[in-house]
Parts: sequence; C-alpha cells; structure tokens
Amino acid sequence: MRGVITGWGKCLPPAVLSNTDIAGFLDTDDEWIRTRTGISERRISHTGVSQLAAVAGSRALACAGVDASDIDAVILATTSPEVLIPSTASRAQKILGIASASAFDLNAGCTGFVYGLATANGLIASGVHKKILLIGAERLSFYLDWRDRNTAVLFGDGAGAVVLEVSDDDSGVLSASMHCDADAGGILMIPDFGTVMDMSKQPEPLTLQFDGREIFKRAVKGMAECLREAEERAGVSLADCDQLIPHQANQRIIESLGKLLHLSPDQVMSNVARYGNTSSATVPIALCEALEQGRIKPGALVFMTAFGAGLTRAAAALRWGSRVHPLGESRMHLPDCNMSALELIGPMLRYQESFTP
Ligand code: UT7
Repeated sequence: MRGVITGWGKCLPPAVLSNTDIAGFLDTDDEWIRTRTGISERRISHTGVSQLAAVAGSRALACAGVDASDIDAVILATTSPEVLIPSTASRAQKILGIASASAFDLNAGCTGFVYGLATANGLIASGVHKKILLIGAERLSFYLDWRDRNTAVLFGDGAGAVVLEVSDDDSGVLSASMHCDADAGGILMIPDFGTVMDMSKQPEPLTLQFDGREIFKRAVKGMAECLREAEERAGVSLADCDQLIPHQANQRIIESLGKLLHLSPDQVMSNVARYGNTSSATVPIALCEALEQGRIKPGALVFMTAFGAGLTRAAAALRWGSRVHPLGESRMHLPDCNMSALELIGPMLRYQESFTP
C-alpha cells in the first residue's frame, strides 16, 4: 500500500517585496541579488502561518474532491510556528473545520515538506491513516534580520499543500531518502530563541547564523546523494525523470544540481525568481506551478528534493496518478491586505534597529 497525491494547492500572500524595495533600506541592488540568487521578488505575509496553511490546504482538498471531514491527519511542515503549543497544524485544522484528525507540526528546516511526504506515506502504508493533508507553510519574514543583506534578500512567505490518499494502482510515493548531518547544524541556525534563552538577560533580536557558501556546496552534493538513493530504492532511473521539483533557495543551486545529475532545464522546475526561499513551502508551491504549467503529465515520474537546517536533506520518487487537473476550487481566501510589503516589514525593521548600539 502506498500514498498518492490527489490534490494540490498553494497560497501566496499578495504583498510583493521587490529587490529594488530592499535596496531602498539595505546596501544591496537588484543586479547582485538576481545574478547571485536568481531572485527578483518575494511575498510578505499580512497574516499568520495557520491562515496561509489553511487556504493552501483548502485548495488542495477542493482539488482532490475530498471533504474536510474525511481527513485523518493534518501534518504541517514549518519552521515558523505561531505559538509553541498548540501546534500550528491544529490551528490550521480548526480554520479548515477538520474535526478530531491527528495534527502535528514537523520541523526539518526547509526539508520539512519532503520529510512530511515520507512520513505521510508511511502512515498510509502502515494502515494508520487513509487520507492525509500535508502542508508546508512559512512566515520567515518574521525571523529575518532586515538589517542583514546576507540573509534578508533570500527568503519569503507562502504555503503549499497536498492531499495524500491510498493508491489503488501503481501510482504514488515509490521511495524516499532522508538524512540529517547534525555535525554541520551550526552553519544554518537561529540560536537565540527557545529554552536556551537566558531569562536573566535582556532579549536580543533574532539572528540567523548562516554560512551561505558552505550551505551551497552541501546542498548540491546532499540533494544529489538523496536523489540517487531514492532512485535506487524505487528501482527507477533519474534519467527517465519527467520532472524534478527541487527546493527553491537559489537558481545557481538548482542549476548546479541539474547539471550534476545530467538533467535538462526542462526536467527541473524553478520558480525561485518570484517567491525566493519559502523554506518548507517551496516544494509544494513549485509542484502546484509545475502542474499549472503542464510539466507533469498523467503517469509521470516525478522526483522531489530539499535541504535545510539540521542540516537535513531528503528526496522522494513518485509515480504521478492519472489526474493532473483539479476536481474543484476552494472559496477560502486570505483576509484582505491593505498594506504594502514595505509597510508590513516596517515594524520588524524598527524593532531590530532599536537594538543597534
Ligand atoms: O534553504 C537553505 C537556506 N540557505 C541557502 O539556501 C543559502 C545557500 N547559499 C547561497 O545561496 C549563496 O551562498 C548566497 C546567495 C548566500 C551568497 O552567494 P555567494 O556567491 O556564495 O556570495 P559570497 O557569500 O561569496 O559573497 C560575495 C560578496 C561578499 O562580499 P565580499 O566579502 O566579497 O566583499 C558579500 O558581502 O557579496 C556580498 N554580499 C552582497 N552584496 C550585495 C552578500 N549579500 C549581498 C547582497 N548584496 N545582498
């Protein structure tokens, strides 16, 4: 028994922050950001992670033609929970009106959605659950140090979701590979938040500990290794891959990975230019757009891969089902946004600047 994706949906908050907007308050420029990362713009959310997750989830449910009441589990991959308890998954579950399903958050950094796919598939394969809503949703704009050009230009907010059901044919998740290289955990870390906080000291603004070059090298090698492992476990060949959906962190990482695996640009999905790195939401958002663009046909061989804080890395191989179009549309929307992206990040920037000596 295996799980197959029968529904998909995404939710991108409407406020767009362009490279030129960022260059208005940081020592950077559009040319540097585009050539070094491939990113032109990203979204800034005016609402919480559970709301982004619920709208993406509702769209995935409508796409699958599955009623919320039939969902057995809500798994939310996120690194930006709204509160520590209860889980943000349960808060999204409440908005969606899903009664008594199991619900939990999964933190594997940007790899969360691919870890979640393997977890959801395992729950289906073992007979624990039949229908699972798996969501990747993030509001990284909250964590970013908007005074730091090394990191502030890279990330954005958004959500993507899929519905997994029991497959009754040979389609579905064929294999997965998951790893975490904990020795390198310190090169991508938000160290000053959580129970490590020293309550005898004044709070400091959050910082993202980040070694971009080292992450870049490990990302390409690590995702390639996981994809090779997933390929072998599934008994398929990457050369036959119809579409690879990689984590969207940097266009140069995506291209280096494609080259290393001898895949053509047509075989590798990219949308990092418009959304930046939305962490655990990149893969499901890119999956939705690959489907919208007709890149995935019935029965296609699809691979997914990601890397992130931990340092985690993972990949999965999937045989797509017979349907590549949504069965229905959701009427759920985000609340209206009457602020620009710059206005939305204003309070965060002013808070951080208040700490500058
Ligand atoms: O999901 C996981 C999250 N992390 C990642 O995905 C990050 C992976 N790494 C990367 O994407 C790239 O390493 C970066 C985009 C972060 C940096 O690109 P790079 O080509 O590795 O640049 P670099 O670190 O070698 O820095 C080159 C220069 C530095 O100046 P100096 O020291 O050479 O004078 C930086 O200070 O570029 C400077 N720089 C900037 N300049 C203008 C760094 N950020 C900026 C900026 N605008 N925004």
